Amino acid sequence: MSNSARLIDDIAAGRVLPDEAHLEILLACGPEDTAALYAAADRVRQANVGDEVYLRGIIEFSNYCRRSCDYCGIRGPNRAVKRYRMTPEEIVDLAVEAKQQGNTTVVLQSGEDLWFTAERLCALLRELRQRADVAITLSIGERPAAELKAFREAGCDRYLLRFETSDRVIFKAIHPDDDYDERMACLGNLRRAGIQVGSGFMIGLPGGTLRTIARDILFATALDLDMIGCGPYLPHPETPLADVDRPAPAAGPGLLADAETYFRTIALLRLLNPKAHIPATTAFDALVPNGRDLVLTRGANVFMPNVTPQKYRALYQLYPNKPCVDEDGAKCAICVVGRIARLGRTIGKGPGHSRKGEASNPQQVS
Ligand code: 5AD
Ligand code: FES
Repeated sequence: MSNSARLIDDIAAGRVLPDEAHLEILLACGPEDTAALYAAADRVRQANVGDEVYLRGIIEFSNYCRRSCDYCGIRGPNRAVKRYRMTPEEIVDLAVEAKQQGNTTVVLQSGEDLWFTAERLCALLRELRQRADVAITLSIGERPAAELKAFREAGCDRYLLRFETSDRVIFKAIHPDDDYDERMACLGNLRRAGIQVGSGFMIGLPGGTLRTIARDILFATALDLDMIGCGPYLPHPETPLADVDRPAPAAGPGLLADAETYFRTIALLRLLNPKAHIPATTAFDALVPNGRDLVLTRGANVFMPNVTPQKYRALYQLYPNKPCVDEDGAKCAICVVGRIARLGRTIGKGPGHSRKGEASNPQQVS
């Protein structure tokens, strides 16, 4: 047995809490150890969050954004994007439909669009609460603590806000109008408001190394999150980062040389966070065909079908090659059922709330 295989075993069994150096080695391990890592992550997933895959239907309801994040295709300064904003009525109707299609959670996501004041959003949340028995997640960027509290009272169960990177220098370099400490404070405010918190990072941002990814994994773990959402960073041609090369080892502008590194990141997150909800994020499908299916076998237990009306999908491209742009909600709903069945998994029935408080189930892998 190789040293890496032994380390994977020890982490999965809860005998070793890895440090940065351990994770850096595992992030770059060879094919045999990678297979062992995926198998371990799959077992830890199975033993701790089961075979159910929860469906969280995502509605991208506005692509207006006041911020200028250097990686994001819908950043405010990108004049090439035609902007759209769904009406609150459209959003609620669509969310009700998403529930009927099997999504036990709806995720309402947008750019940082201040047309959606707290007042408008709270009215929308209350209306949706009344019309459907569905868990509600917001993903709308940073908002003041008082607004987060109001969202909670109006029926918001969860909130997604990625920290993007734990590295202050990189954070500052790619966020010309955002602040690392404010982002972290917002995560604390969410928790204090009684909202389940999802966060995470982009894997392989320019300026980082494998050590950075190792730190991001440990940082996400230390935040003790209800949900951990991470996906590959994919360069968007209409952004300032488009032509910035990756750090070595890189495959040219954009991608890490070894695509398995992205998947190993998710598998390691599962080993360190047995009870967390981990989605197979959409960006994995943009990375490799059936990427989301692969992630579901390497630690993930959540799928986020796109419910956005077809006419808006092409306008919400945070990164290129976004999947399902030509499909509509009904098509994705059918496709998703097949994808999950082919993996031998079942569709989650309840709301799939946080399982963070539960004792974890260590796994003897070999
Ligand atoms: N590549 C990958 N992920 C991206 N996101 C934004 N732009 C990109 C990109 N170019 C991610 C960010 C954000 C989430 C909604 O989408 O992590 O938090
Ligand atoms: Fe959208 Fe398969 S998930 S078409």
